[in-house]
Amino acid sequence: MSERLNSFDLLAKDHVIKRKSNTQRRHRNNGPLKPNEQVSQKLKDELEKMLNSSGYVSMGRVRSNLPAHAFKSTVVKTVLGSQVTIVSGETGCGKTTQVPQFIMDEEIMQGRGATCNMICTQPRKISAIGVAERVASERCEKIGNTVGYAVRGETKVSSDTKLQFVTTGVLLRRLQSDPTLDGISHVMIDEVHERSVDSDFLLIILREVLKKRKDLKVVLMSATINQALFSNYFNGAPAIEIPGFTHPVEDFYLEDILDMTSYVSHMPMVKNTKNSDETSTSSHLPKGEWAQWQIPYLEKGYKEHTVRTLARYRNQDKIDYELIAGAVKYIVDNETVKIEGGSEPAILIFMPGAMEIKRCVEALQDKLGGQSDHEILPLHANLSPQEQTRVFKAVPAHVRKIVVATNVAETSITIEGVVYVIDSGRVKETRFDAANSMMHLVETWASRASCKQRRGRAGRTRPGKCFKLFTRETDENKMSPQQVPELLRTPLEQLCLTVKSMGEHDVRKFLSRAIDPPSVAALDSAIRSLRQVEAIDLTERGDLTALGKHMANIPADLRISKMLLFGSVFGCLDPILTIASIMSLKSPFTSPMEKRAEARAAREKFNFSKSDWLTDMKAYEGWYEIIKSKGMKASRNFCEENFLSFATLNEVQNLRRQYTDALSEIGFYNKSNHQHFNQNSENVNLLKSILFAGLNPNVAKIKLPDTKYDKVLSGTVEREKEAREIKYYTKADGRVFLHPSSLLFNNNSYNSSFLTYFSRMTTSKTFIRDGTEVPSYGILFFGGQIDVDHMGRGLKVGEDGWIRFRSWARIGVLVNQLKRLLQLELEF
Ligand code: CDP
Ligand code: MG
Repeated sequence: MSERLNSFDLLAKDHVIKRKSNTQRRHRNNGPLKPNEQVSQKLKDELEKMLNSSGYVSMGRVRSNLPAHAFKSTVVKTVLGSQVTIVSGETGCGKTTQVPQFIMDEEIMQGRGATCNMICTQPRKISAIGVAERVASERCEKIGNTVGYAVRGETKVSSDTKLQFVTTGVLLRRLQSDPTLDGISHVMIDEVHERSVDSDFLLIILREVLKKRKDLKVVLMSATINQALFSNYFNGAPAIEIPGFTHPVEDFYLEDILDMTSYVSHMPMVKNTKNSDETSTSSHLPKGEWAQWQIPYLEKGYKEHTVRTLARYRNQDKIDYELIAGAVKYIVDNETVKIEGGSEPAILIFMPGAMEIKRCVEALQDKLGGQSDHEILPLHANLSPQEQTRVFKAVPAHVRKIVVATNVAETSITIEGVVYVIDSGRVKETRFDAANSMMHLVETWASRASCKQRRGRAGRTRPGKCFKLFTRETDENKMSPQQVPELLRTPLEQLCLTVKSMGEHDVRKFLSRAIDPPSVAALDSAIRSLRQVEAIDLTERGDLTALGKHMANIPADLRISKMLLFGSVFGCLDPILTIASIMSLKSPFTSPMEKRAEARAAREKFNFSKSDWLTDMKAYEGWYEIIKSKGMKASRNFCEENFLSFATLNEVQNLRRQYTDALSEIGFYNKSNHQHFNQNSENVNLLKSILFAGLNPNVAKIKLPDTKYDKVLSGTVEREKEAREIKYYTKADGRVFLHPSSLLFNNNSYNSSFLTYFSRMTTSKTFIRDGTEVPSYGILFFGGQIDVDHMGRGLKVGEDGWIRFRSWARIGVLVNQLKRLLQLELEF
């Protein structure tokens, strides 16, 4: 145990030092306490001055028009009188921006300014920064004074900061080193209705903290969903509902948009008429206006197209970009009523993810052309703060703002002037893939509750319209009423690891206190996985290992975080970062149905070192070189020639950056010492071994054909084929088969007897996918607790032909041995 701690802690010493300095800095922020009254008086004076300043007065007018304004005293009184308060209300009513200020101003005015130190969590970086900036500007202040923010990788707070907007993750990390939130007076958790793992988890912790910190106040804020649930969870805490002032919103479903009968039967009229009121007799159709943007379809051969389109929509789920562009064009051409003040009403389009947003923006640009009377803006969590703020900026009156957003615009971000919403009805959701035990983002139908929120965005300014790109049937039969809380649909390894790292040994008991507790089976399986990767030790209690301690700080699948740490420790970080990112996403190679063989040939060109993962890594590296040296256009051509997805490669690049940031934060990477972390990056055997360290116990032994068969071959063709085949065996399944999608499928030689694979799937037989040959030393050093067969190469073989490395399980020892080997530059 101690050895493990030593080896990893030693390697992470920068991290330890850094952590210390963070803590020191924090303490400096909060204190040292000057005489409280003096500080409070000063704060009060400053606040009074601000309230009377000319700059503030106009802002104050905007603020006082928000529905939340009328609830100021109710909020303040309730919060004073109760440890937990729930505030809910329609999106845009002023919860996020106003409620924290109400409380802060009251504290300051009552002379408690010195001890007021508020934290308000946001589900995403984008809203934490956006809201902090907005609130600072409402107070005519620069960000980082009274109001600041702290998100992963970026912090703007000072010793004057009284109100900090942070991401939920930041608060959770703080709780690890500061479990009772010393010096914090109020914790506000925003968007609790989203029910993310982080937010549900935070609520469990806060309930405990509240028992110890009777002076701590907690305020939960949510859209108008499930207030009672949260109130019950906190012992019947008082709930305040701020009524919204939404206008009615008219719905159009897909069948209204593409009404088949009226569409087909009125086709000749549609074709001949420009302004065709008479085209539509169907009550669904808004006075035949749709005809105008249906014309492009008609010209393609209306009947066939319509039937095909509708058939597709009935049972399917592909986003039709042309249809969205058509809807926008229709609005632009036909909906001409300006909003108050003479501006063009804005259009808000909901898409499932960043990639879909990009394609949608392109489709819109094609459709609307490069005119200057519209501005198309993407909005999703991966944008830079500058890009994000563009969405809030006012545009000239004649310009129409068209925002293409993910569900961040559902409840957490309000865009002014939206009158039209186009809802794809789709969302990206984390799902567990049992074949490879990994989490993936999967596109699926949004819940009805989400669609209701999206629709609501159209009615803020005046009566609006919501165009739904799905049928009523989908709405009724395919969409679930509410999204299942994330805690119930994702594996819990990472969460359990976090619980352990907080010093809570009984993870099951701890998580049974969640609003919707996860199943015992899910928890048991998570604990098993933690043991497997050696994040916790083999004791009954399952104490965190040094490895586990660091893994808890990396927001990634366990196998990925283990690989990343090993990549850093063994000085081959760059290639491991690439592989880890590809593994978390998907292969950058595309394989279009009609061009399978060509696509395969393209991937074969990169074939490298008997590994699917290393091959994909080579492709990424090739692309990266080109984008760096020759630019975007050349890199797009490169993608086209090589059947690579530019989008995926881009995502890989982004994720790589996120992983690099996470590692830097915990001292496992340092930009200025890049070389140090890559001194072994060319050592392919090392890379393969680290891949195995992560994927362990996914290992198969390779059995090459016995050459003596050549002499005795006499049977049927099948028997001959069978005899010449390379065979794979795993401990659990016996004989398994390499999936034909692997580059190793046609491989006829190996330098090792082991193959590590990514996933397995049983259909008619058991297939293993994505293989990498692993040198025996890799198995020896990283095999940990699994049993491996060495095929009799001089190591002690058990009776059943498998070698047991249980006694080698102490990874710390292995790591040190391996490091020594590397230092000696022994061939590994
Ligand atoms: O949290 P909730 O949805 O209730 O509303 P909010 O985020 O506090 O927003 C209140 C008002 O502030 C909205 O009308 C927004 O238009 C405005 N706001 C803004 O103009 N810029 C921001 N970055 C955030 C909010
Ligand atoms: Mg809000």
